[in-house]
Formats: sequence, C-alpha cells, structure tokens
Amino acid sequence: MIGIIGAMEEEVAALQRDMEIEETRKIASMEFYKGRLCGQEAVVVRSGVGKVNAGICGAILALEFGADVLINTGIAGGLHPDIRIGDMVISRDALHHDMDASAFGDPRGQVPRMDVWAFPAEEELIERAKKANQRANPDIQTFVGRVVTGDQFVSSEEKKQELTEVFGGMCVEMEGAGIAQAAYLNRIPYVIVRSISDQADHCATEDYPTFEKKAIAHSVRLIREMLGNWGKLD
Ligand code: ADE
Repeated sequence: MIGIIGAMEEEVAALQRDMEIEETRKIASMEFYKGRLCGQEAVVVRSGVGKVNAGICGAILALEFGADVLINTGIAGGLHPDIRIGDMVISRDALHHDMDASAFGDPRGQVPRMDVWAFPAEEELIERAKKANQRANPDIQTFVGRVVTGDQFVSSEEKKQELTEVFGGMCVEMEGAGIAQAAYLNRIPYVIVRSISDQADHCATEDYPTFEKKAIAHSVRLIREMLGNWGKLD
C-alpha cells in the first residue's frame, strides 16, 4: 500500500477525486482515504501544515494502515539558483533545518542521538519519481536534491542563503523531514516530490498564492504518472 501525504486540501483534493474510495477513516483529526489510485492500493491524506502534523500522519500510515511506502507531495520554495517557479524537486534526502543542538556540538539539523543527519530517500523511488516527472511534465526541469524542512515560511534572501550554505538545501518546505523521519523510524522507504511555488525570497509571499495552483498541478500529474507506471521501471 502506498501512503500519499499532502499538507493542504488543495494538494490532495485532485488525487482524492481520482480515487476509487473503499473506506475513509478519521484518525487524529485527519481524514484518510483508502482505495485504488491509478491502479494501485493507496491511502491519500491531508496531514495539515508543519512537521508535527506530518510526523503524526506518517506514523499513522505506517502503523495503522501498514503503508509499504510514503510519498509526500506538494509545493516548496526554491533555494538553488537554477530552479525556476514550477520546476520539480525530488528528495535525495531531507533534514530539519530548524533543529539546533549545536550548543552540545551537534551539527545544525542533527536530531540529537539519532544515527542519521539527513534522512535518505529510497533510490528506486527517486528514479521512479524522476522518470514520471519527465514524462508527465516535460516542459519543466527536474532536480534531485536535499529538501530542508522547518516550521517556518521562508521569505528572505538571508535565510535562503543560510539554508543553502549551512545545509546545501535544494528547496525548503514545512513537512518533508517529518515524514522522512516517520519513514526512517518505521523502516519504510519514502520520497518527497515538490513543485516550486516561490523562490523563498522577499517576493515569496506574493509568488506563493500566484503560482500555488500551477505548482500543485505539476505535483498531481507526477503522482498520477508514477502510480500509473508503478509496475514498470524503464
Ligand atoms: N512552501 C512553499 N514555499 C515555501 C517557503 N518559501 N517556505 C516554506 N515552505 C514553503
């Protein structure tokens, strides 16, 4: 079973409309839609915004629904200079940019006493997502890189520079690492796919509502293509 998580209603509504729904369950105030999506057994859910919601949601998918795979879909702010609004970023790995126990000598982003700094996404899922995006959205660029996550909407050049220099972030958002951590703790593979709605700079609060719909449409097309070709890896 494939667990698909989007933070906001807009990010999951189209996928839920596509589904043949067998069952809906409300757990922890989240509505889980279980059924078939593009030929695959799936559960689609809106987690709500932020890392805590995302982690709780990922854990429920793993423990209550027995998800074999977690996919986090949605939008993000671009950090890398080559990324344009609308482009797709697929996670190589993900970390919490707002985790900071450097007072004890840990590198920023490190969850103290965990044996990993950035949670690695699964290679095969990365490949599948990359190919699916190239087929579904041939007019945009596909990047594979580090997703940096924090409970913060980033809209300044200074913060953006920091996220690039300290963490090597490719894009910034507010849920991915929470889902990655839930997947890591439950030993299931995950990948994050995020289309860029803004550049996380001083224009971000204006760009975000302007380009949100377009970016979401790209992520939805990628997911449909990825699930539709699940059996194949060409
Ligand atoms: N999601 C989309 N754009 C974002 C940004 N600039 N910061 C955090 N999360 C985002």
